[in-house]
Amino acid sequence: MPPSQPIRAARGVRDVLPGERAAWAQVEQAAARVARSFGYQEIEVPIIEPAELVERMGEDTDVVAKEIYRFQDRGGRWLALRPEATAGVVRAYFEGGLQAGPQPARLYLLGPMFRYDRPQAGRYRQFHQLDVEAIGDPSPALDAEIIELAAGWLNALGLRDVRLELNSIGDSRCRPAYLRLLQDYYRPHKEKLHPDCQRRLETNPLRLLDCKEERCQPFKARAPRVTDHLCEPCQEAFSEVRGLLDAAGIEYQLNPFLVRGLDYYTRTVFEFQHEALGGAQNSLVGGGRYDGLASALNWPDTPAVGFAAGLERVLSMMKREGEEVVPAPAAGLLVLPAEPGLSVAAAQVARSCREAVATAVDYSERSLRAKMRAAAKAGARWVAIFNREEGARKVVQLREMTSGEQAEVAWADLPERLISS
Ligand code: HAM
Repeated sequence: MPPSQPIRAARGVRDVLPGERAAWAQVEQAAARVARSFGYQEIEVPIIEPAELVERMGEDTDVVAKEIYRFQDRGGRWLALRPEATAGVVRAYFEGGLQAGPQPARLYLLGPMFRYDRPQAGRYRQFHQLDVEAIGDPSPALDAEIIELAAGWLNALGLRDVRLELNSIGDSRCRPAYLRLLQDYYRPHKEKLHPDCQRRLETNPLRLLDCKEERCQPFKARAPRVTDHLCEPCQEAFSEVRGLLDAAGIEYQLNPFLVRGLDYYTRTVFEFQHEALGGAQNSLVGGGRYDGLASALNWPDTPAVGFAAGLERVLSMMKREGEEVVPAPAAGLLVLPAEPGLSVAAAQVARSCREAVATAVDYSERSLRAKMRAAAKAGARWVAIFNREEGARKVVQLREMTSGEQAEVAWADLPERLISS
């Protein structure tokens, strides 16, 4: 690249500019409010984790095989940028001693995740998730609770065209036999499958059910259904989850092909999808029970359930549904010195008003007319104008922009005046 080119952002990442930040804040605040209302507490875990922790979530998954940002630090340790938060939260649960506290530990986290995938609409290399986890309790009631929490949040955001899909993929007792059945069913058709599916047939047969390739669809349609091959405890757990969702008035569709992209799931899996998200990126929220993850990380066997939602996708669907959030103006009051050389006085006026209202100064040397135009564009409610003579008398002309009403106000009276009107 020629040295004179301006330096741009890395591929697949986005800036959140001030005009969008209000909508982000609304989504994050609603997440925190809904999560807390269910008794969940905020946790933060590092963005870098040992590569091994991230890789244990599923060696045969796309996320681990192709999408991890993995690097060696100066000490020769292999680290990874987290592609999701669940493994890190489980690690923190044990390392922080939460397993000795009240169970389940109900936790939520908001933050950036990183996946090296081909960027496209709704798919970024740095994106943000709301992650919610309930760790340390096997009760199917928690699966339903987690789903109700996600539904409550989407509802609070005003999203309407959302569909919940639900499945159970069994556990370590019943799944191995089902996977053998699936392999036996697919093997005679192996040559006709997409090359990815030929590989999956040997390495991760459950993912055959997730295939979107046209040529694999007829085989998929006739494949044995996982829900017909659940052991009795898994069947009972699944029917309890469904009963609780029914009682909560949460609508869902059973989808026997829903298997999810990470390996650690057992029993309940679910996704909230949005009609308009189209294509492969249609999931807003994904989650499920993952009773085997803790032991895969060499910690004691511990049941858990959770979900994560992509904030970029949630925000883009809110925008699409017209749930636009109008950003508040940066400053309610703009101080406009009308002549050069009044910066000290303008800074002093602003300093005294900030407790009352967000205040900024236009220090530029452009004309007062231009400053007024800029103040109107910035959406300020008031401007405080003064020239050298008014500065010497310690007064400003306080003007309300929409009404055009203007009055002389002493500096000392400004805060009071701004609060009371
Ligand atoms: P996931 O399905 O991989 O699950 O991701 C959850 C959500 O993150 C997706 O539904 C999507 O909205 C968003 N997302 C994923 N990848 C991208 C991307 N490249 N760009 C934009 N958004 C994306 C998990 O991450 C699990 N940890 C969920 C979980 C928590 N399961 C149990 N606990």
